[in-house]
Amino acid sequence: MRRAICPGSFDPITLGHLDIIQRAALMFDRVTVAVLVNPEKNPSFTADERLDMIRRAVRGISNVEVECFDGLLADYARQKNAQVIVRGLRAVTDFEYEFQMALANRKMNMDADTVFLTTSAQYMYLSSSMVKSIACFGGDISDFVPECICGEISQRLCMPRFNDES
Ligand code: PNS
Repeated sequence: MRRAICPGSFDPITLGHLDIIQRAALMFDRVTVAVLVNPEKNPSFTADERLDMIRRAVRGISNVEVECFDGLLADYARQKNAQVIVRGLRAVTDFEYEFQMALANRKMNMDADTVFLTTSAQYMYLSSSMVKSIACFGGDISDFVPECICGEISQRLCMPRFNDES
């Protein structure tokens, strides 16, 4: 069985992430979306909120599961018996960081290889931080995040003075 992991912060999941997950699900028998719980980062959404949003977004993709992890990705991949770590690449600017991470992970876990999927062109500019910054000022994020979680993200992040309903 070919098992892959799609790791990330997913704070929150975007349509760009979902596109990578959907494409990975076509390539591998089992895909685990692995949400990093990092005590050093200060995410906008709790791990449980991120898990819940991702689960709703991937509902209907039968070979995808969603979990949290902490510690090293290389250890988590070993624990999951995953042969592949899938990462999306948007632009050359992503490359150096991703390349460094892939090499370090391979050094720590020779049984897992990192595979990069090129972003779909329409999501090249998209990131979780961009979504948060738009939502914070009351902007429309419906083209950037899965429809089923769009309202929740807007409501959570929009500052009161930009919120029509307040
Ligand atoms: O969505 P992100 O923030 O780009 O994802 C980064 C992530 C979670 C894949 C990366 O930070 C990670 O794997 N962290 C776990 C800790 C670890 O293994 N660090 C060493 C990697 S070189």
